[in-house]
Amino acid sequence: MTSPYDASMPLPKAELHLHVEGTLEPELAFELAARNGVRLPYGDTDELRKAYQFEDLQSFLNLYYELMAVLRTEQDFADLANAYLARAAAQGVRHAEIFFDPQAHTKRGVELGTVVEGLWRALGSSEANHGVSTRLIMCFLRDDSAESAMETLRAAEPYLDRITGVGLDSAEVGHPPVKFREVYEAAAALGLRRVAHAGEEGPPAYITEALDVLGVERVDHGLRCMEDPALVERLVRERVPLTLCPLSNVRLRTVDVLADHPLPAMLDAGLMCTVNSDDPAYFGGYAGDNFDAVRSTLGLSEDRLRELARNSFAASFLEDDEERRERYLAEVEAYEFP
Ligand code: ADE
Ligand code: ZN
Repeated sequence: MTSPYDASMPLPKAELHLHVEGTLEPELAFELAARNGVRLPYGDTDELRKAYQFEDLQSFLNLYYELMAVLRTEQDFADLANAYLARAAAQGVRHAEIFFDPQAHTKRGVELGTVVEGLWRALGSSEANHGVSTRLIMCFLRDDSAESAMETLRAAEPYLDRITGVGLDSAEVGHPPVKFREVYEAAAALGLRRVAHAGEEGPPAYITEALDVLGVERVDHGLRCMEDPALVERLVRERVPLTLCPLSNVRLRTVDVLADHPLPAMLDAGLMCTVNSDDPAYFGGYAGDNFDAVRSTLGLSEDRLRELARNSFAASFLEDDEERRERYLAEVEAYEFP
């Protein structure tokens, strides 16, 4: 497969913050629209790409949910995930922990089974087809009710052999982690791993709450921890992994320009940072592109880049396959920068 992304940094890495619905490239969106008889309110891929100008998280989410209308069948979800895995593999991703948003599909009349079975067609053969191991993480939409999240968790019980953990995403401000206390307790009782978006647009207190109330093992984004030195100290002490997404932060205007991104300061503070792509089709780059961008714009050294890659495997949910984790970590140490 040739893509403009193939040249991006092949340093072996795990991707820990990736919404599969956010990998829907305009070309595939139009192909699926035609296949499913869905009319998109854009003339062509160029016109659609022009809509990728975001003011904030909500303006992105509006388009992100609108375009999901083209995803209807198992094969659609399989094609979506396979396209992501091919691109990720070309950029050095060896292991991907992939988020999906079940409620965004079930509320459109697409069954949870269709989504999971479809994604599994791609994930189940990902090692053979792409050389990428995978895990699947089901996210709850935090701007929907806690009852809806609990119903989704219950509906997912037949599929728990394929789902490693739960996450929390969508519009953050006004939807604090505590809203989902019972859902996360139930998820923990089912043996699911727990992560949550916190401190992307929301305040540092949401990060603390995600740790203390939801019991999360990683914080997705966590960027705004930098406003609270005591919280930074805690995150360093407890070695809580943060799944940062630098290009996403620029596109959603969490930071003005990439040169202002706090990643170097976060690493200097001793935080366990990882670099990820979030919604690469919308934010201008996949995992390797994010690494390239922080290297060229923030001047990160090879040691720092290797640290980010090492952190990604250390923070991944590979406890059931420590041998694999060791193999990946050895690949990081053996990598020679061009
Ligand atoms: N859903 C997809 N991408 C997201 C992001 N960056 N923040 C919150 N929810 C999301
Ligand atoms: Zn995200």
